[in-house]
Amino acid sequence: MKTILTGDRPTGKLHLGHYVGSLRERVRLQNSGEFDKIFIMIADAQALTDHAGTPAAVRENIFNVALDYLAVGLDPAKSTLFIQSQVAELFELTAYYMNVVTVARLERNPTVKNEIAQKNFSTSIPAGFLCYPISQAADITAFDANIVPVGEDQAPMLEQTREIVRKMNELYGEILVEPDILLPQNQVCRRLPGIDGKAKMSKTLGNCIYLSDDSKTVAAKVKDMYTDPLHIRVSDPGHLEGNVVFTYLDAFCEDKETVAEMKEHYQRGGLGDVKVKRFLTEVLEDILTPIRNRRAEYEKNPAEVMKMLKDGTKVAREKAAEVLGRVKRAMKINYFD
Ligand code: TRP
Repeated sequence: MKTILTGDRPTGKLHLGHYVGSLRERVRLQNSGEFDKIFIMIADAQALTDHAGTPAAVRENIFNVALDYLAVGLDPAKSTLFIQSQVAELFELTAYYMNVVTVARLERNPTVKNEIAQKNFSTSIPAGFLCYPISQAADITAFDANIVPVGEDQAPMLEQTREIVRKMNELYGEILVEPDILLPQNQVCRRLPGIDGKAKMSKTLGNCIYLSDDSKTVAAKVKDMYTDPLHIRVSDPGHLEGNVVFTYLDAFCEDKETVAEMKEHYQRGGLGDVKVKRFLTEVLEDILTPIRNRRAEYEKNPAEVMKMLKDGTKVAREKAAEVLGRVKRAMKINYFD
């Protein structure tokens, strides 16, 4: 069996970093027909680990993320889309996995460490937040997933999941599947920089282009993009390093030959930023226009979108219950069977 599980926190609308890091890959895998099962999860319970005070926003973003999923081409007929918090089995699994993970190991998780620094939790880290890598291990293993397509920032989560699987299997027999991460082939897609040139496109940093941004907004954001501060006159030789416009062309433009020519011209001098930006805007518009159109269609029918999530959640819950049953039997805590 080849099974995929992946997902996103509903903390906002999805952006181009999500698109090249994971969404585009998911759609490709979905349509390849190579997978027996594909589960795509909206991780609302994980979002609540650091947004406990704003559940209404999380609720609203569940709908936004679902729209983004459908808009990029995830198809409920081929992929099971579901909501994490409604699959209670995940939290039972989390509780048992907690016993095989140390607090020190959680504190060493590089992604958690980064987020703690970014969010200024200092010493008041919610326990649920510290433990979310354990919950993520439950998300993955509850579906017997062997492939997890995600961006590079999720690599430490997969590493920790694999440790938990090995530990559980060592204690209770071969009950869980050890998953592999699947990163995008194209290196620049693994971590897309923000439009300001910062290392990562992120809502918190406010440097995103959203899948739902309209044409005008996209054009304005590209216009503001960080390029080469030394490239003052068009005739000056330009530099590619850290030049976000070219990084984005590498990530989004299929026509590699044209990009190579432009890079050469830019470095030689004589190619202005305005021209390169205009070209990038066109490339992005070609990708975003069909996404926007599909989004608008689904947006008109919220009941249908919620029904799709409800149906998906039912399917997901059945699979998670099967795995939880297997784990509880192996742990000999099936007293009433
Ligand atoms: N941590 C992921 C994010 O930041 C969301 C997520 C939760 C996830 N559980 C997962 C991703 C399981 C892959 C597999 O968006």
